[in-house]
Amino acid sequence: AGPCDIYASGGTPCIAAHSTTRALYNAYAGSLYQVKRGSDGAVANIAPLSAGGVANAAAQDSFCAGTTCLITIIYDQSGRGNHLTQAPPGGFEGPEANGYDNLASATGAPVTLNGHKAYGVFISPGTGYRNNAPSGTAKGDAAEGMYAVFDGTHYNGGCCFDYGNAETNNLDTGNGHMEAIYFGDSTAWGSGSGSGPWIMADLENGLFSGANPKNNAGDPSISHRFITAVVKGGPNKWALKGANAASGSLSTYYDGARPSVRGYNPMSKEGAIILGIGGDNSISAQGTFYEGVMTTGYPSDATENAVQADIVAAKYATTSMTSGPALAVGSSISLRATTACCTTRYLAHTGATVNTQVVSSSSSAALKQQASWTVRAGLGNGACFSFESRDTPGSFIRHYDFALVVAANDGSKQFREDATFCPQAGLNGQGSSIRAWGYPTRYFRHYDNVAYAASNGGVHTFDVAGSFNDDASWVVSDGLA
Ligand code: AHR
Ligand code: AHR
Repeated sequence: AGPCDIYASGGTPCIAAHSTTRALYNAYAGSLYQVKRGSDGAVANIAPLSAGGVANAAAQDSFCAGTTCLITIIYDQSGRGNHLTQAPPGGFEGPEANGYDNLASATGAPVTLNGHKAYGVFISPGTGYRNNAPSGTAKGDAAEGMYAVFDGTHYNGGCCFDYGNAETNNLDTGNGHMEAIYFGDSTAWGSGSGSGPWIMADLENGLFSGANPKNNAGDPSISHRFITAVVKGGPNKWALKGANAASGSLSTYYDGARPSVRGYNPMSKEGAIILGIGGDNSISAQGTFYEGVMTTGYPSDATENAVQADIVAAKYATTSMTSGPALAVGSSISLRATTACCTTRYLAHTGATVNTQVVSSSSSAALKQQASWTVRAGLGNGACFSFESRDTPGSFIRHYDFALVVAANDGSKQFREDATFCPQAGLNGQGSSIRAWGYPTRYFRHYDNVAYAASNGGVHTFDVAGSFNDDASWVVSDGLA
């Protein structure tokens, strides 16, 4: 049985079931999600390999071959049509046209389930999904349950990487107007023991880790690669739980009365569904979502324990984050542009600016060094790479406001993540395309001979779709220096 079969037999059926990795009902064989490709704007639905099974990642890979793909719809498997789509602006505007949020890359979060490849939803700051008119979600003080499986190593302190119940108008309409799972290390409201990240409940104008609106020692830091997060709420009661999604059972971090602060008892839930954002479309957070559901009624502990066992049995595991020509850590490399204009140009830097420059065997030693990079294990994720400047050791290529710059490693988590890149087989069939780990819609791209972390057809001038694949494909060779 899948998680939603378990909730149904417990008398608290799913009214929304979202996953890009697997069917959440034994009998579900319909579409899990929709992808849209950059080359021609065509869309394709991705279904499980078989009823109740893992997503057909190979179908995505072949549809998206030689181009980029975004996740446009995360379908509701419950039959209620509670699909998640690109979130609209609210209290905060998203980065896309008309204030919409970004869509997630379809390839940012590869995993395996029982050995079968699948892709999660990698939420970068600015990315969000929403449904403001769902059917069957809890409203007012009505009871509901929810769980989600996240990447416990992908988080930040921004507001708010959430999944669950939120406002229907994208605005902060007051305390108690949300009830969603939060994951991250924000300390703006509540926090738990240690330095985070924590699973908390976003009840609006507050991330709650227990009875106290501030710190609750009973809410532990949790950072397993795969985590299960549970929130449930009913009249004057709510509970918070977590687990390693790959083994073991749920622990209860809080199970008790509603907050005593005004507005949370009774609740005023509105019933929209959000993913990756706060109730008011706060877009500063990051995280990775693999699967999650919302129920009607207050699920029993026994039901939630059985769901956790089902998640463990799905056997989430990591897989390679890279493809294409292999890179050797410690080696020096150079990256040659492949666009017809520019095949004598290499990725180089002039001071802090990363650019392309014409370099040949007769170039100066200094220029050859400017165009050479030492491959390091990814500072922010060891499954990918960082590129240290040959002539300025200790400085690395990072993105900042999506320009590529060479900057000294300041040791911060932000630096390490912004300096981590995941090469894949070149989008134009040549060499490698080098994806930003933290913004997997974005790749090393030269534009007017300056280098950016660019998305295919995004809002910046340097994101223009024309010649994207060529500008974002680089032939990797031994370093010029
Ligand atoms: O409750 C925390 C956040 O506060 C909510 O997600 C958002 O709507 C508000 O800014
Ligand atoms: O390059 C995009 C973002 O710009 C980086 O992640 C951040 O460090 C800066 O604000």
